[in-house]
Amino acid sequence: MGKLCFGLKDKVVLITGGSRGIGFELARALLREEAKVVICARKQEGLEEAASALDDNADLLTVQAHLAKEDQVEELFGKILDQFGKLDILINNMGMNVPTSEISEVDSGAWNKIIDSNLNGTFYVSRRASELMKKQNQGKIVTVSSIAGQRSAPGMNVYGVAKAGMDMLTRVLASELAKYNIQVNSVAPSMVKTDFSKPFWSNQEIHDMVVSSVPAGRLAETTDIVHPVLFLCSEGADFITGQVLNVDGGATAV
Ligand SMILES: NC(=O)c1ccc[n+]([C@@H]2O[C@H](COP(=O)([O-])OP(=O)(O)OC[C@H]3O[C@@H](n4cnc5c(N)ncnc54)[C@H](OP(=O)(O)O)[C@@H]3O)[C@@H](O)[C@H]2O)c1
Repeated sequence: MGKLCFGLKDKVVLITGGSRGIGFELARALLREEAKVVICARKQEGLEEAASALDDNADLLTVQAHLAKEDQVEELFGKILDQFGKLDILINNMGMNVPTSEISEVDSGAWNKIIDSNLNGTFYVSRRASELMKKQNQGKIVTVSSIAGQRSAPGMNVYGVAKAGMDMLTRVLASELAKYNIQVNSVAPSMVKTDFSKPFWSNQEIHDMVVSSVPAGRLAETTDIVHPVLFLCSEGADFITGQVLNVDGGATAV
């Protein structure tokens, strides 16, 4: 991907779940923009691999944190403040899913695990980031949601409920934080070719079924998501808030 011009030089950006997939490509793009980038994930090994793939860039901070745990969110923010002294932009990118049965039969363990990481984790991080941004009287929060939060899809039932909650969190935060000059938006992709969705797209039958539901006729690549997220992080998006931007090759238009 070529160099973009989003005016993000020296901005301090936290990308949750930046060790691989969409978050990793966001980190790569933001470092190219000369931003200061923090990535976090549960597994240290993934963070080390990401740092090495980013040439151990001096502007990159990696922090191991399980964001469904409030104490670890607090420790993460302590490390960000120690290193950079502020936070300009939060990208709520981390997400996970586990196989589930039909919703009427889902056990509470699976339900809680999915809601804890996706919805509760996003809430804990957004709340802490808002606290800092309110004092700065500026900030941007962009959440990577999913079109699974807008329509029911097999294997995505509890996950879809969590993503719908995250979209509502975006709207609520946007309306409450606008007076502090903080803009909050979501980007909702259709299926993106990452490890996360590999169990689906590596199965030819499922791949073809998903592609047939996308007017653009293909799955998204990580770079398809990076560009709109960076735009929403930029000054160009100062008057956009509370929106969920579907980045889905037209899937929700039909
Ligand atoms: N790929 C798709 O088809 C697709 C479509 C629509 C939306 N999305 C959304 O896009 C976002 C990124 O997805 P992706 O495809 O890039 O996924 P991915 O490749 O599986 O990466 C997910 C990242 O989140 C981290 N993570 C997961 N749970 C975490 C937790 N509780 N605390 C901290 N870090 C955590 C993972 O690291 P660890 O495992 O080490 O924690 C990893 O860095 C997610 O929100 C996903 O829901 C993806």
